[in-house]
Amino acid sequence: MPNLNQDKAAVIGWPVEHSLSPRLHGYWLSQYGLSGDYGRLAVEPQNLSATLGRLQKEGYRGVNLTVPHKEAVLAVLDSVEDVAQRIGAVNTVVVEDDGALTGYNTDIFGFAENLRAAGFEGASKRAVVLGAGGAARAVIAALRQMGCISVMLCNRTIGRSISVAEKLSTSDCQVIPVAWDKASLVLAEADLLVNTTTLGMRGQLPLEIVLDDLPQTAWVTDIVYTPLQTGLLRIAAERGHTVVDGLGMLLHQARPAFTKFFGIDPQVTPELRAHMLQALGE
Ligand code: ATR
Repeated sequence: MPNLNQDKAAVIGWPVEHSLSPRLHGYWLSQYGLSGDYGRLAVEPQNLSATLGRLQKEGYRGVNLTVPHKEAVLAVLDSVEDVAQRIGAVNTVVVEDDGALTGYNTDIFGFAENLRAAGFEGASKRAVVLGAGGAARAVIAALRQMGCISVMLCNRTIGRSISVAEKLSTSDCQVIPVAWDKASLVLAEADLLVNTTTLGMRGQLPLEIVLDDLPQTAWVTDIVYTPLQTGLLRIAAERGHTVVDGLGMLLHQARPAFTKFFGIDPQVTPELRAHMLQALGE
């Protein structure tokens, strides 16, 4: 018999079988001895609104969203936190006591916290970001929160970098669009290089970028975590840069969501990392 009083949450995607969120939240539920449940719901785009409308009746505290719902969901929610509205992407929805649905973006915290946990200080730093999709917009918001003063935004489709720069550039953190084939040329001033494209992911094309001009002190991070050590991170480590892999972003972005659903701020530990790496076959 299902326990109707237990807290429930899930990840919604299409497809959703690949999502590691149930394994991650499930680990914390058992670690903290909570009776809650975290599942997965395969929901096609045209059924997203109806599915969200049923969440409260079905006892859900909230849901996480993955591809392809993170942008479309904004139109369905009752309210959206300012920063998620600004970047146009929501990955966490909370069902309020009155049934209203509120959207948040915890990828921003996840990216920032992964770098902070590794010891990176963002204040007054200059970043180069590769890619201009939803992940890049969350990364730019995180970099701004961390105190970075500029972001060179390199994307294959330059029009996309231009529109993201127009939307996210501020007087304290300027976002400057850069042509994809000029990426290597803007590295000389960088304190941090971030890959947010799908290049380098298992089954995708490799990311080809010449790091010769990147200062020795610059940090390099990749939000791709399959494989954990991407080609970019391998080459950067060989050149002596401090590198931060993308698994930490996945782990840390889940923390604020878990807190909203189940009431505890959970820890990211070496044991949790090992538990997730096992599922990744690393
Ligand atoms: P997400 O929302 O997860 O960031 P996305 O919107 O599909 O995903 O963005 C994927 C990013 O990878 C984009 O910046 C994309 O570049 P375009 O905007 O030009 O499509 C980038 N990308 C994917 N394949 C690429 C390739 N072969 N070469 C260069 N960039 C690529």
